[in-house]
Amino acid sequence: SAAEKGGYDYFMLKEIAEQPKAVADTLLGRIDAAGSLTLDELRISPGALREVDKVVVIACGTAFHAGMIAKYAIEHWTRIPCEVELASEFRYRDPILDPQTLVIAISQSGETMDTLMALRHAREQGSRVLAICNTNGSTIPRESDAVLYTHAGPEVAVASTKAFLTQLVACYLVALYLGQVRGTKWGDEIRAVIRDLAQISGQVERVLETMEPVRELARSLAHKNTVLFLGRHVGYPVALEGALKLKELAYMHAEGFAAGELKHGPIALIEEDLPVVVVVPSPRGRSVLHDKIVSNIQEIRARGARTIVIAEEGDEAVVPYADHLVRIPVTPTLLQPLVATVPLQVFACELATARGNEVDQPRNLAKSVTVE
Ligand code: AGP
Repeated sequence: SAAEKGGYDYFMLKEIAEQPKAVADTLLGRIDAAGSLTLDELRISPGALREVDKVVVIACGTAFHAGMIAKYAIEHWTRIPCEVELASEFRYRDPILDPQTLVIAISQSGETMDTLMALRHAREQGSRVLAICNTNGSTIPRESDAVLYTHAGPEVAVASTKAFLTQLVACYLVALYLGQVRGTKWGDEIRAVIRDLAQISGQVERVLETMEPVRELARSLAHKNTVLFLGRHVGYPVALEGALKLKELAYMHAEGFAAGELKHGPIALIEEDLPVVVVVPSPRGRSVLHDKIVSNIQEIRARGARTIVIAEEGDEAVVPYADHLVRIPVTPTLLQPLVATVPLQVFACELATARGNEVDQPRNLAKSVTVE
């Protein structure tokens, strides 16, 4: 009913709008007054966490994209090797698991059969499984050794939005906590990022306030058949997520690529007026990546692409090559997906509406996939 949708036409719009609160709620009570993380709820002792020598993340769909981002965070802040794998592939290739392996299973619903079967397999091999889940008491957390709940509240729309942002927050919390208990050399950076995380909900809110041009752009592209998405580093999974949203909602051919792979094949797809969304890393810090992606934008534009550029406020280098420029707030490199994903959600939702598609219940899809 209209009341359930809180005045929005679709649950998806409501859930996109709820993201600042979902992010804040997921952080709530997990950072103490001194700025340290308090994750005693994990019920894995700091001693056991210090013994972990490998992390394996398993998930499907959007949750898998959160897992890809978790890998960057975990390896950077903890120096523990981290693999991320589609749950549906995982147990069929005889993965190497032992009691020192920490397996992280990410699932909004907690009922995804592929993820459940993968975590059962990991536990049979003696690994500890930590679930990151949005649904209290669902099967995946019940069968795991530990759980960190995301506090997105119920997500009704089939296309995941607020659950994804809170999965990212939970992944950052786990990575930072692992770094904190293991006393990595990034101690100061970890403390600084915890402070930045506390600001992030307000930044997501600011992105939401500036989305009208993105909606307009989406409407103007409603007749297109294909949209490509490019990103690098943590922007690569964001590109994959943008493409998945567009497939699910707009039923358009959408593909995400690592921008560095362009020249190894996908650049052959570029043709006159093809919309290409590019997620640009911050020009600060890892500026090499920034410069490389700016030349990618130049290259595809020279071949006729219509460039839709998502770039940090103050990044002037992209301006000459952006047919459409979407600004996102300045964040630490690893946290950028929290703000960069939002315009892609809005874009896909508006395109679906413009194409007359059912936003909350896309064809052929179920909210949780309880079959293998
Ligand atoms: C997201 O928009 C999708 N509908 C889908 O990819 C989903 O993320 C996937 O099926 C995993 O679901 P889960 O998080 O409930 O395990």
